[in-house]
Amino acid sequence: MVQTRQSSLQDFLQKIQQGTERNLQALLADPAVPARLQEAMAYASLNGGKRIRPALVHAASHAVGGIEAAAEQAACAVELIHSYSLVHDDLPAMDDDDLRRGKPSVHKAYDEATAILVGDGLQSLAFATLARPIAALEHSQQLAMLQSLSQAAGPAGMVGGQMLDFEGVGKALDQASLQSLHEMKTGALIRSAVQLGGLGSNQVSQAELDALDRYGKNIGLAFQVQDDILDETADTATLGKPQGSDSRLNKPTYVSLLGLEQARTLCARLTEEALASLDALPGDSRYLRELADYLLGRGH
Ligand code: IPE
Ligand code: IPE
Ligand code: MG
Ligand code: MG
Ligand code: MG
Repeated sequence: MVQTRQSSLQDFLQKIQQGTERNLQALLADPAVPARLQEAMAYASLNGGKRIRPALVHAASHAVGGIEAAAEQAACAVELIHSYSLVHDDLPAMDDDDLRRGKPSVHKAYDEATAILVGDGLQSLAFATLARPIAALEHSQQLAMLQSLSQAAGPAGMVGGQMLDFEGVGKALDQASLQSLHEMKTGALIRSAVQLGGLGSNQVSQAELDALDRYGKNIGLAFQVQDDILDETADTATLGKPQGSDSRLNKPTYVSLLGLEQARTLCARLTEEALASLDALPGDSRYLRELADYLLGRGH
């Protein structure tokens, strides 16, 4: 039984990873883009990453019977935003990390100016991708998708969370402040990935969107708690990014606030809550369930 579940998630993830790679490759192959920028954008977004956010888009779409083309487009858009956020997150002015997805960070493989432009380019490509016409989808649904991603990526979402992350350096944040920081810097984009899968359907009900949103909110926060834990406990080779980056920079994290054991307990509780919210979904939420378990047990 466990074996079957694992292999079904592995097949699902492999399909998403291959599909995302193929679709991103096609999106990046624009002859109008200067060669060095195009190459660096490909370096930043291809051949790496677990592709969790695309998987969440597809898993949510599967649960509500969403339109495949809408999920594919949204999966690429959210992964482009995520890849851009990593390029900028690693810059010397930010986390100053030289390794990402097992390779030199973009500012190391190229240079800082190129890394800044890569992030800018990936960000606008994300929105251009999400705005591509989808014949079967009502315009109001696509507009809602654009709103979801732009809010999640923007100053009241990921970018705002990054600001709080820097303002929090060296400070002892209380748990409520740390929670909103994490919900913004990482949770918002993951939450949007789940919403995007739901919104890419003409029939989705508000009750389904609400259930998906509770799942996305919990899994999004759990994801950054786990990232904080792994920064402390995993090794650089496994992570593909420098271990101990948070403590080196004196970053506010769940591990520094609660300690490892309590951070682990919190992560498990958030995952339970995410799973419980799926009870309100009438469709097939198997992949959302399996992804929640996988994320809790992940080693990188
Ligand atoms: C890492 O995200 C950065 C965070 C937002 C915590 P992932 O762990 O999803 O990174 P990749 O895409 O697999 O490299
Ligand atoms: C990631 O937070 C936040 C974004 C990239 C928006 P971290 O700084 O903890 O991510 P890693 O650990 O470098 O991947
Ligand atoms: Mg950071
Ligand atoms: Mg970082
Ligand atoms: Mg981290």
